[in-house]
Amino acid sequence: MNQPPSDAASAQAPAPHTADVVMRASGLVKRYGNVVAIGESDFEIRAGEVLAVVGDNGAGKSSLIKALSGALAPDAGTIELDGRPVHFHGPRDARAAGIETVYQTLAVAPQMDIATNLFLGRPLRREGFLGSGLRMLDHKKMRNQAAEQLDRLGIATIQDITQLVGTLSGGQRQAVAVARAAMFGTRLIIMDEPTAALGVRESRQVLDLIARIRERGVPVVLISHDMPQVFEIADRIHVHRLGRRAAVVTPKTCTMTEVVGLMTGALRMGADGTLVESTTQHMPEEKPASRHPSESPE
Ligand SMILES: Nc1ncnc2c1ncn2[C@@H]1O[C@H](COP(=O)(O)OP(=O)(O)OP(=O)(O)O)[C@@H](O)[C@H]1O
Ligand SMILES: [Mg+2]
Repeated sequence: MNQPPSDAASAQAPAPHTADVVMRASGLVKRYGNVVAIGESDFEIRAGEVLAVVGDNGAGKSSLIKALSGALAPDAGTIELDGRPVHFHGPRDARAAGIETVYQTLAVAPQMDIATNLFLGRPLRREGFLGSGLRMLDHKKMRNQAAEQLDRLGIATIQDITQLVGTLSGGQRQAVAVARAAMFGTRLIIMDEPTAALGVRESRQVLDLIARIRERGVPVVLISHDMPQVFEIADRIHVHRLGRRAAVVTPKTCTMTEVVGLMTGALRMGADGTLVESTTQHMPEEKPASRHPSESPE
């Protein structure tokens, strides 16, 4: 193999003590005309963790994860996977690197059945010449593997694997998208509000699934507005505000009220890691924030 040119590559060598960082982004920017969707944002997810990304509507969470998953080309900034700079030219590149994403606007094909959806973009072909020469698909194998995968994930409400995805309920459709990501995500799985359309039981299943993915050693980015859910499952919480990362906290050292304070700008993180009241913003009246993470009831 040729040696990469040393200038640009070495300038982006990982900092010490960050061996467990799976993906890192620095100074990401994305503008749409006058709208700044991502404004010099940083991001970092470590091995074996569930990282929740929270923030108000329009804070730029979806834009951020689209940049990480190749669905959006940032105007500026760098992205590293396992310490190496990456430039994804589309979601396909990210998927080839083991990054699976469940987008907020689900990318499923309604006119195809569940198994075909699970194997979208990488179908299984028949063995021998039928597959390699005639490029015939192995529908039976895909159905069997799809059924196994849904079983493994505990997705019990789908009764017929041959059902067209367009005929599934919204929640079931979301479950298929989550199943697909869990099936192929080997390095990182990103989920943008995966439980938004789900009932209590189905949300529970997705949370259990996220826990199982973490046990398998694959880190998960979870965008969610559901604070109890975030506090239950997340190892760390990335708070996004006005297009950038405002703070990173943990559910153990922070209360939900404090996280909401960081989201609204009523609180900000001081240089020493403690939360301080912002002088320009106000907390929601009914829930004054405590000032220090150590005041958490947990
Ligand atoms: N294609 C686009 N064209 C113009 N503006 C855009 C586009 N995509 C996003 N934006 C704007 O960028 C900002 C960030 O949007 P984004 O979807 O990333 O927010 P979000 O944090 O995911 O919000 P939500 O919680 O509502 O999903 C918003 O102001 C949005 O209107
Ligand atoms: Mg969004």
